[in-house]
Amino acid sequence: MASERILIRGGQVVTENGVSVADVLVEGERIAAVGQGLDATSAAVFDASGCLVMPGGVDVHTHMGMPLGDIRTSDDFETGTIAAAFGGTTTVVDFANPVRGQSLLEAFETWRRWADGSVVIDYSLHVTVPEVRASTGDEMARLLDRGVTSFKVFMAYPDTLMLSDPELGAALRWAASSGALIMVHAEDGLAISQLVNEAIRAGHTDPMWHVRTRPPALEGKAAAKVIAMAGEVGASLYVVHLTCRDALLEVARAKAMGQAVFAETCPHYLFLTEEHVARGGFEGAKYVCSPPLREASHGQALWGGLADGTLDVVATDHCAFNFVGQKDRGIEDFRRIPNGLPGVETRLFLLWQGVREGRLAPERFVGLVSTAPARMFGLWPRKGEIAPGADADILVWDPDKETALSCSSLHTAVDYSPYEGMKVKGGVVRVYSRGHLVIDAGRFVGTRGHGRFLPRTRPVLPGRASVL
Ligand code: URP
Ligand code: ZN
Ligand code: ZN
Repeated sequence: MASERILIRGGQVVTENGVSVADVLVEGERIAAVGQGLDATSAAVFDASGCLVMPGGVDVHTHMGMPLGDIRTSDDFETGTIAAAFGGTTTVVDFANPVRGQSLLEAFETWRRWADGSVVIDYSLHVTVPEVRASTGDEMARLLDRGVTSFKVFMAYPDTLMLSDPELGAALRWAASSGALIMVHAEDGLAISQLVNEAIRAGHTDPMWHVRTRPPALEGKAAAKVIAMAGEVGASLYVVHLTCRDALLEVARAKAMGQAVFAETCPHYLFLTEEHVARGGFEGAKYVCSPPLREASHGQALWGGLADGTLDVVATDHCAFNFVGQKDRGIEDFRRIPNGLPGVETRLFLLWQGVREGRLAPERFVGLVSTAPARMFGLWPRKGEIAPGADADILVWDPDKETALSCSSLHTAVDYSPYEGMKVKGGVVRVYSRGHLVIDAGRFVGTRGHGRFLPRTRPVLPGRASVL
């Protein structure tokens, strides 16, 4: 139950705009006041001195219970949102994935059924567009009315998800006229298929060939193309899971021209490299995702992009498959390895290392993991903000606490951790979701079904003047 009044006292409140020592008063599900010496009458007081008090994380890229052929990602909406909360995240935005021939609305309703009653924190949904048919614009418009304001399109996976150029153009034109945001998986699917076929013909089957057949140049090429197409029709564009210098340069160029292009990267592209995929004994399959992990210098470029604003958001692409029984389907053929890594629980711990190492200011950290994604996906200022009126989604964070990222200490329902053996500084003390305590001193104290579906407004996108 939510306490009527909670006073989180004396922490360093961090927002995108600054850091200051203040109390945060919660009344019911909302933040009532932020300031010094707030009246604690009838409030349950929590002493946050020595801690940071931040808006809960907003992870706008997860795949809970996602079907893939006859299997599903190992975290469902309940285990996945519990893991998210343990990691300081209080909102996830997942993807409803219709298959070709299925209505977008039907997929949306299916994902709602899976999530409603299961989630322990608030959630929302993007919808994937796997084809553009006569009815697609109308279906997207109806979804917009239900609070789905972002749609993912694929330039990869020709057999299942990839849009043709005319389809991509139609989706972008529709987005430009409706104010919705197109999220794009930018990899050149046809060129990749050719490389994959050549590799298989040559007898290459181990996980590293997944990396070798999806080179950075083909991510950069796809990014350049879709950015040009979006520019032509005046659509805003959000590039998901950007991994490499090649695509980063395309986003930087577009931003410099004043184009509304935004981009996300994920912690695994900052902390892991293709060397992990090269690990023997099929261990490398644990690290197979698309786009793939890259050579280390790309990660360094991404850190630069986070600091200089080329990258706008850090999300996880949490797409957990067990090593035993799921990833190992591809033991004789890398094409059969389910793509994706777990990450919803470890995002804040990992990115905090960027603050510790002086790469990011704490304000920028909050912007990347909470405020910017909330804004871009139509959830701000209700989410991603510590201010009167905002939902009391609050993270109390100990900057010096040690957190282990091993499978045995994490809560996500998957049988491995990509960060096995790693210990980091920075840890969760408390997490509130709309004023309800969800995580307290390392224990889950929340409630299944507490989370609600969040209908979203159209994105609030930062304007950018052309520098040219
Ligand atoms: O490997 C990945 N990223 N799997 C999840 C699906 C996607 O493309 O985001
Ligand atoms: Zn993708
Ligand atoms: Zn994804």
